[in-house]
Amino acid sequence: MRKECFVVDENVKVAADTYKMILKGKVGDDIRAGQFVNVGIEGLYLRRPISVAGWNRDSLTLYYKTVGKGTALMAGMGCGEVVELLLPLGNGFSRELAGDKQVILIGGGVGVPPMMCLAEEFLKDGKNPVVILGFNSKDQVFGEDGFQELESVYGRKIDLRVATMDGSYGVHGTVLDALKEEEKDSGYLFACGPKPMLKALGDLPAKGQFSLEARMACGFGACMGCTCETKTGSKRICKDGPVLLKEEIKW
Ligand SMILES: Cc1cc2nc3c(=O)[nH]c(=O)nc-3n(C[C@H](O)[C@H](O)[C@H](O)COP(=O)(O)OP(=O)(O)OC[C@H]3O[C@@H](n4cnc5c(N)ncnc54)[C@H](O)[C@@H]3O)c2cc1C
Ligand code: FES
Repeated sequence: MRKECFVVDENVKVAADTYKMILKGKVGDDIRAGQFVNVGIEGLYLRRPISVAGWNRDSLTLYYKTVGKGTALMAGMGCGEVVELLLPLGNGFSRELAGDKQVILIGGGVGVPPMMCLAEEFLKDGKNPVVILGFNSKDQVFGEDGFQELESVYGRKIDLRVATMDGSYGVHGTVLDALKEEEKDSGYLFACGPKPMLKALGDLPAKGQFSLEARMACGFGACMGCTCETKTGSKRICKDGPVLLKEEIKW
């Protein structure tokens, strides 16, 4: 884990209450999908955890939804402003566990960003992922352009499906309604999103890995503030997670 200063290069609204932030600075070369950064915000004691959506050696892409004071302050940051980050944090997804199965990446709301990073890793591996994005309504939809850009950069196809609860865009319903029957059995699921979505996916026979959320303080395993019980003992979501195997999660 490192502490680094980054400069805001872009901070734009991409959907209702949702922003994309590009930060320039020394990223390094050791980030994996599912890991997050802890964002220092002036005037706030606790940093705010945000997943890495994309990265290269000198640039980091984050997407965040404004839900409270910290994310509202982030939305007000202008280009050139300096942000201090702790990175990379958390364990990230283990792609190799999917074996030869069809990989299915599922993001609900602000669970979409880690799936962008993961889709890029699978494209680099030479795999064509299924990607399913779930939102409440059309005004909240974001990220499609990011996946389309990945397709053109890597020259590989992503089977991209979007579902909205109110049916205003894409498939009418939840991410489960966008899954094919055979995928519920034989696919390998990588998911991040609200707990009810993860729980519903947890009931499917397919194996997978889910990224969980918890209120965090330190973000690197020192305070035990994010501990949760699993079938394999208690785990710190920030350090032993946020990604857990589907079968070890206690709902
Ligand atoms: C590993 C991890 C990765 C995350 N990645 C992203 C991301 O990529 N994009 C994004 O928009 N958000 C992400 N989040 C959630 C984000 O950290 C919180 O929304 C943010 O910290 C809220 O800060 P705030 O000061 O704006 O809100 P606060 O004023 O702290 O809280 C506002 C409301 O949000 C709820 N809330 C705050 N933090 C969390 C949390 N961690 N889990 C559940 N509810 C919370 C509070 O209960 C309250 O109702 C992630 C969280 C974790 C743990
Ligand atoms: S937030 Fe401190 S141990 Fe997880």
